[in-house]
Amino acid sequence: MKKIALIFGVTGQDGAYLSKLLLKKNYVVHGIKRRSSSLNTQRIDDIYLDPHKKTNFYLHYGDLTNSLSVLKIIEKIKPNEIYNLGAQSHVGVSFDVPEYTANVTALGTLRILDAILTLKMQKKIKFYQAGTSEMFGASKPPQSEKTLFYPRSPYGVAKVYSHWITINYREAYNIFACNGILFNHESPFRGETFVTKKIVTGLCEIFLKGSGKLYLGNLYAKRDWGHAEDYVLAMWKMLQKKKPMDYVISSGKQYTVKYFIHIVCKKLGMKITWKGKGLNERAYWKNKIIISIDKRYFRPTEVTSLRGDSRKARKELKWKPRHNIYSLASEMIDEELKRIKT
Ligand code: NAP
Ligand code: GDD
Repeated sequence: MKKIALIFGVTGQDGAYLSKLLLKKNYVVHGIKRRSSSLNTQRIDDIYLDPHKKTNFYLHYGDLTNSLSVLKIIEKIKPNEIYNLGAQSHVGVSFDVPEYTANVTALGTLRILDAILTLKMQKKIKFYQAGTSEMFGASKPPQSEKTLFYPRSPYGVAKVYSHWITINYREAYNIFACNGILFNHESPFRGETFVTKKIVTGLCEIFLKGSGKLYLGNLYAKRDWGHAEDYVLAMWKMLQKKKPMDYVISSGKQYTVKYFIHIVCKKLGMKITWKGKGLNERAYWKNKIIISIDKRYFRPTEVTSLRGDSRKARKELKWKPRHNIYSLASEMIDEELKRIKT
């Protein structure tokens, strides 16, 4: 019998990589997509077939803000594994829509756990919760499973709720439930408003057109960036263990946003020079300003330094990333150049 997986957040970056991984592992994959006025399935269009034909990949409408829709889908699909990747996942935006962020990103997790319980499926279903390094917030690096949570955004706070409600349901009701505490991970499928993708897209366009301008916020934030393809493998590995546990997943290396710009420029062969400080800092290419600072991209409270200690996952899950920041940036640039040219 094939295993059945249900993915909330299937249309996002990680949902797309995880779906492809599980299909390769011979799962039947069901994904929940939100109703949207424009198409939101671009990342999975290549694996989605006409549902009238025989396929191992199915999409269903649903929404994490709607308990009954969550419950009915789980009852219908009867999955062996549920991956909760659904979230309002943009940290900056969470300051603009904190209540909505809490509804989806915190209470959405509770709705899934409660549905498992209500349906008495706690013995059948394994549950993965997409936790984040944002939960560490102001705590100093390196951050591990033992580091104190000190979130610095409504998004981070919502994820801390999800983390603890997952542990509570595991302890109270014996649900096989794991928290992955994943550090930033990127790919050509990354959403356009996250900083790596924004930099890659902006600089590729400027490079091809010979001019243009990119506006950014804090260039000195430090992040631990990995590749989404490596990180979804860790999610799956967590659910294959005998005992449910929580794991940090990270590269262990840390770079500034400015250094990421440097990597991209180097790969594109663009020689840039920096002038000015603070809000007046700017980058020049061929004597023209191509990067300026715009304070709208600063957050009211920032997470300045993230670097994960993933030794537990490397030992117990035998997980190791295949990519590094250079191969990641290179792949993102190649795909972006292809996209712009076509
Ligand atoms: P993403 O690209 O923003 O995808 C989020 C997914 O959630 C999308 O499929 C989105 O649907 C869906 N979603 C949003 N609101 C929903 C709702 N009300 N009901 C149902 N689905 C909803 O995020 P990602 O980068 O793939 O990340 C996956 C998960 O890991 C998220 O929970 C994120 O918070 C967490 N995480 C990400 C990182 C990272 O660096 N990428 C690190 C740590 C943790 P639409 O396509 O319709 O918007
Ligand atoms: N988005 C964005 N846009 N960020 C910018 C910009 C800009 O123009 N300029 C500078 N930054 C800085 C942000 O202030 C932040 O310090 C850093 O770049 C990374 O920002 P994002 O790429 O938006 O990612 P994030 O770290 O805030 O959040 C991502 O990673 C988390 C894991 O640590 C998201 O994927 C979250 O969902 C995830 O949990």
